[in-house]
Order: sequence, then C-alpha cells, then structure tokens
Amino acid sequence: MSSPSVYIKTYGCQMNKLDSALVTSALRAAGFGLTDNAKEADVVLINTCSVRDHAEQRVLSHLGHLKHLKKTRPGLMVGVIGCMAQRLGEKLFQHEAVDLVCGPAQIPQISQLLADALHEKQKRLAITEKIRQKEPENQNLALEQFESAYGIEDRQLPGQAYVRVMHGCNRFCSYCVVPYVRGPEVCRPPAAIIEQIRKLADAGVKQVTLLGQTVNSYKYTAGEKTYCLADLLATASNIAGIEWLKFVTSYPAEEFLDEILQAMADSPKVCHYLHMPAQSGSDKILRAMSRHYTAAQYLELLDKARAIVPDIAVAGDFIVGFPGETEEDFQATIDLTRKAKYKNCFIFKYSPRPGTRADKKLQDNIPAEVKKRRNIELLAVQERISDELSRDFLGRQVKVLVEGLSKKAHLNLDQSSSERQLVGRTAEDWIVVFNGPISLAGQLAKVKITKTSPLTLFGQLC
Ligand code: SAH
Ligand code: SF4
Ligand code: F3S
Repeated sequence: MSSPSVYIKTYGCQMNKLDSALVTSALRAAGFGLTDNAKEADVVLINTCSVRDHAEQRVLSHLGHLKHLKKTRPGLMVGVIGCMAQRLGEKLFQHEAVDLVCGPAQIPQISQLLADALHEKQKRLAITEKIRQKEPENQNLALEQFESAYGIEDRQLPGQAYVRVMHGCNRFCSYCVVPYVRGPEVCRPPAAIIEQIRKLADAGVKQVTLLGQTVNSYKYTAGEKTYCLADLLATASNIAGIEWLKFVTSYPAEEFLDEILQAMADSPKVCHYLHMPAQSGSDKILRAMSRHYTAAQYLELLDKARAIVPDIAVAGDFIVGFPGETEEDFQATIDLTRKAKYKNCFIFKYSPRPGTRADKKLQDNIPAEVKKRRNIELLAVQERISDELSRDFLGRQVKVLVEGLSKKAHLNLDQSSSERQLVGRTAEDWIVVFNGPISLAGQLAKVKITKTSPLTLFGQLC
C-alpha cells in the first residue's frame, strides 16, 4: 500500500496555523503523504479552536459533513486536534465521524497516534488530564524538541514563518478559554528560539512573527540573566537574511513595554506594528473581564508607544455584549476606539465559554440583537478611522512583503498580460493589492499607492 495521505484543515489563531505546519512536517518525515485535496485523503485532521461557540460550531458542521463522506468511504480516518480536542476530549467520540483526538500538548505524538489508529483500527485519545497543573518536564521537553525539529519546512506563506516564544497563558481573563486549553504559560529558551530563526533565515525566510498569547511578557531566566522579548528582537535583528520581525499578541501592561518599544525604535528590522487588544473601554467591564488596567491606563500606554515610535500602527480587539454592558459602557468603548486611532480592530460578540469564570458567575444577559448592533456600530466607527489613516498613503511608496495571489478581485487586469493580482503587507501590517508577476511571492517589493480603502491599499509596482 502506498503511504496514507493526510489533509489538514486549520481553524483558529496563528498558534494553530503554526501547529498545523509542525504537524505537516512531522507527518511528512514519518512517511505520510500530504494533500491539499480533501477528496483524495485517507486521513482528515481538523485543527480546532474553542475561543467562541461559533468557532466550535464550524468544526461540528465540518464533522457532520465527514460523517456523510464516511458512508461512501468507510476507510476514511478523521482526527480532531487542537484546542477543542483538549476541551472536549473523550466526548468528541460521541460524534460518529471522530477516530482520533489529540490535544495541543500531544502533537509530538501525532505520527505514532495516526500510525496506531490506522494499523489497529482503534480510536485514539491523547490529551492532558489536568491541564492547569504544571506540565511534567518530559512533556515540555518533547514539545521543545518537536518545535525545533519541525519548525522549518511547510510554511503557509512564502518567505514568512511563525516562531512560538511561549506556550499557554496565565492571565485568566474571565471570558477566555485559552488558559484551559493551552495550559500554563511556559517560555521557550532564548537559545532555541534564536537557533530556529537562524535556520529559517538560512531556508530563505525574510519575516518572522514571534507568537505568544501575551508575547510582551516573555521572560526567561538562565543563570544570572533574565531575557525579555526586547532581547529576542535585538538578537534576531542581527541574523543575516531576516528583514522583518513582528510579534503578537501584546497584553496592555507596563512590564517590558519600554524595552520592546525601544528595540522597535532602534532596529530597522523590528516592524512598527503593535497588536494590543483593549477588549473594552469601560472600566467597569474591564474589571469584570479581569483585565488589569483602566481605559486611561491603556491610552497612556498607546501615548508612550507613539512617543517612542511615532509612526507605530496599532491594532486591537474588542468584545461587545459582555455581561452587564450598558449603552454607557458601550459608548466608553466607542470613545476609546476613537482615541486609540487603530489601524484596524477585530470585534467579537461575547460568547460564554464553559468553565470560565464569566460563564460560571455572570449571566449572558445582553440580547443577541444588541450584541449584533453594537458590533456593527463599532465596526463603522473603526472603518472611518481606518479610512482616514489609509488616505495618508495616497501617492506614497511603500515596501511590501508579497504573500501571493490576492483572492478577491479588486483590480482590472489586462487579460493578455502575464501579470496577476498580488497581495502583500507592509511592515506596519497594511494590506496592499497590486498587479505583478507571481514570481514576486516571498519577495520584498516597492509599490506606489494609487487608491485606498479602509482595510486595503491599492497600487502599482515601482
Ligand atoms: N491572547 C490574546 C488573544 C486571545 S483570543 C490576547 O489576550 O489578546 C483572541 C481574541 O478573541 C481576544 O482578544 C478576544 O477579543 C476574543 N475572545 C476571547 N474570548 C472570547 C469570548 N469568550 N467571546 C468573544 N470573544 C472572545
Ligand atoms: Fe485569553 Fe486573556 Fe490569556 Fe489573552 S491574555 S489568551 S484573552 S486569558
Ligand atoms: Fe487559538 Fe482558538 Fe486555541 S484562538 S489558542 S486556536 S482556542
């Protein structure tokens, strides 16, 4: 029999995208085939997200589809990996389609689990029993080895890669499931991170994005010295071949922020981009969310960021319709959004997550239509700000890292031309659409901006 082929579908955040890339490399090394075509796969792995109910519903509907597919293809194997696997564990086997369940901390075992499941035709479960207990050393070691071994190939975007600097989260914002599915915060050793970036640079990577749930609180003590994110950025800046360094997501806290902003100001390679969610502009709601800052303190942090890095682009996240959010609280969120002048922000409707403190203690008392209205209203406020900021780019030349073909058709193309519609991002994370040869994917290019919209800039190759 030829080697079984695996199709991986990824939901959720960058952490999941990175995990899928690691799993792809590991499976390939173990002799599995990988396919982009779900129809020809022997195994479908779904890498899942639990952050909102909607994310889980999408996975469940995907599983429903696979259940039907299995009727015509009984040999098809279905695995659920990622955050939902950890959250629901054995319960996922109640879904007929599911053969294998593997949590985020168990991905180093994925090849073995799959091989066993295929060979013995038995269901396989691998998750962490007590997720908030300190992980045993051997589990951390296995994750570390897996990460270093497989972080190089199988990047989703040419010339770019994610590198995790920390696992898990210890913040316990009252609404959030992440600490319960990704476990306690564990920072990776700086030497391993730097070595990985060096290997990526050798393999042609130009942009590395450092990942952590609260990436700015990265801290690692080795002997006398404590390393913070600014140290990683400074060291990585010296690696030949690396052009741009980004990091997400930052938690609004004083600790280490000065150092990180200074690294941004000092090194031309550290991109002037900060993703620092506020979640709400109301101090009452921020308290209920267990976010440890006030709206005024948050804005002070932004002032400081702009004093050190004047052209910094800031992105944010908000949750609307949190329990107890009045019209006045929502107005405070609108005020903060106006003052923060975000490049863009992600707005989510509150979704109660089982096991979190908000779910246990607070009633989800904001009606769905109110959540929806607030979402639309806040989006409209942000759209005006984004529109204004984007207009500044008209006529200017920007440098972009080209991602590849743009999915949406925005520009007129000369049908006879070999040029295609490409998309790239600037160092400040603005999306730029322009016509050019596909050979530019993974390369830096200069584009003159000729048209703007709130979220996208359009232009011509220089
Ligand atoms: N660690 C990051 C992001 C975590 S999840 C941070 O702290 O910023 C990404 C975003 O999802 C969060 O910023 C938040 O806005 C949103 N989110 C998390 N839990 C949610 C919930 N229960 N309902 C709605 N949105 C939620
Ligand atoms: Fe969730 Fe808060 Fe941790 Fe972000 S900082 S992952 S919102 S608990
Ligand atoms: Fe990411 Fe979703 Fe898990 S946001 S950490 S994939 S719950």
